[in-house]
Amino acid sequence: MSAGQNRLPGVPAPSGAETTTDHGPVAVAPVITIDGPTASGKGTVAHRVATALGFGVLDSGALYRLTALAVLQRGVDPADVAAVELAARSLKVVFHPTGVTLDGAEVSDLIRQEHVGNLASRLAPNPGVRAALLERQRAFRQLPGLVADGRDMGTIVFPEAPLKIFLVADVRARAERRCKQLIEKGISANLDDLLRDMRERDARDTGRAVAPLVAAQDAHVVDSSNLTIDQTVQAILDLWSSARGEGG
Ligand code: DC
Repeated sequence: MSAGQNRLPGVPAPSGAETTTDHGPVAVAPVITIDGPTASGKGTVAHRVATALGFGVLDSGALYRLTALAVLQRGVDPADVAAVELAARSLKVVFHPTGVTLDGAEVSDLIRQEHVGNLASRLAPNPGVRAALLERQRAFRQLPGLVADGRDMGTIVFPEAPLKIFLVADVRARAERRCKQLIEKGISANLDDLLRDMRERDARDTGRAVAPLVAAQDAHVVDSSNLTIDQTVQAILDLWSSARGEGG
């Protein structure tokens, strides 16, 4: 992602995306937020939308997964709220074009494991963890723009985003997708176990007191249960065109 103060050619900012400072107007990078439950296809869709627009991507779930992995690797007690917060604050993470490193070691595949995702979901209600990760997430907002995926992108991290998507899909459709993905990667998977874990994770992410998984009031709800990835991406790009006053 490129940093800079001026808007790039061909990427007009939506209205209100300019801030005036003592040094004159400064373009603020537009953000498209995509929130939704686990395995709703947010990650794939976010990358495809970002590629189409030339924007950067924030996979906020990766930061929670990295925190979970750090907790596991450092032998931190997941119930020790202060120690978990410290692990989140002290993450040494580098995102690179094909993945991410933690403490200098490649961990792109490790953080995708189901037990790491489940631990991430258990650590995520910790307000200290969420506060520790907030500024890291906001730092991804750089020109020409950002597509941010997670649970609270539209409600907490980028509440002023000009386009907010809440991507949902039927839990069985999501479990089937996840099962297929895991088997394709050569990882054994059982549909009933995935379905049970996914329901538990949904309940935890939705029911927590801090930054629960909930659609922002001004979010567009997109149900991808019966849509292909291409159709989902197109629906979001159409909404983006409308948000910029280009269509619909
Ligand atoms: O999107 P994911 O499955 O990679 O996220 C893993 C967990 O991290 C998810 O179950 C809850 C937590 N999370 C969160 O609390 N807030 C976010 N913005 C993203 C993820």
